[in-house]
Amino acid sequence: MADVPGSGDPDDEHTVPDDVEFADDEVVPIRELVELYESVNWLLYSTDPDGLARAVDRSTYVVTARDADGELIGLARGVSDDVSILHIQDVLVRPDRQRQGIGRFLVLVVLQRFRHVRQRVLLTDDEPRQLAFYRSLGFQNVRDIGRPAVNAFVQYRSDQPD
Ligand SMILES: CC(C)(COP(=O)(O)OP(=O)(O)OC[C@H]1O[C@@H](n2cnc3c(N)ncnc32)[C@H](O)[C@@H]1OP(=O)(O)O)[C@@H](O)C(=O)NCCC(=O)NCCS
Repeated sequence: MADVPGSGDPDDEHTVPDDVEFADDEVVPIRELVELYESVNWLLYSTDPDGLARAVDRSTYVVTARDADGELIGLARGVSDDVSILHIQDVLVRPDRQRQGIGRFLVLVVLQRFRHVRQRVLLTDDEPRQLAFYRSLGFQNVRDIGRPAVNAFVQYRSDQPD
């Protein structure tokens, strides 16, 4: 797994609970994916289990977090050409394990894996907690970039909600 500098050091601000194991080499069973995505109410994914499994399987890089019982409690995935662009597509942590540094660590592992890539981008809801989360990881909202100004465009499939 991509090594996150400083991780494992008790004095490091990026420590995570001792019971959490991270991996980037597993094939996650569909049932577990559905349970995790359902736990954060991402129903567009969880109501299409085969699509969810394909999306995860075809991602360039997937990091998972499991607790001491082996339960899936978090996941992050990146889609990339490994040169110019990394799109962080999903970062999710089961609600009862949120705010313990797990989401941050998942993103840091993905960023470390793609540290040579020029642009790291993502779309997220306009909710304070998501904005605070990505800002805390050093991402800039395009709205806040003054000079040079930058714009982000997105097109959603017209038969699906945003
Ligand atoms: C967003 C999400 C992944 C964050 O995961 P997490 O493990 O709870 O986040 P962390 O504990 O690593 O938080 C890191 C930092 O982000 C910020 N942050 C995270 N959750 C926050 C919240 N609810 N309110 C304010 N700031 C928050 C804080 O600065 C936090 O550091 P701190 O706890 O030392 O103050 C998690 O809330 C989640 O799964 N949400 C549902 C799915 C989702 O919306 N994903 C993001 C869009 S892709």
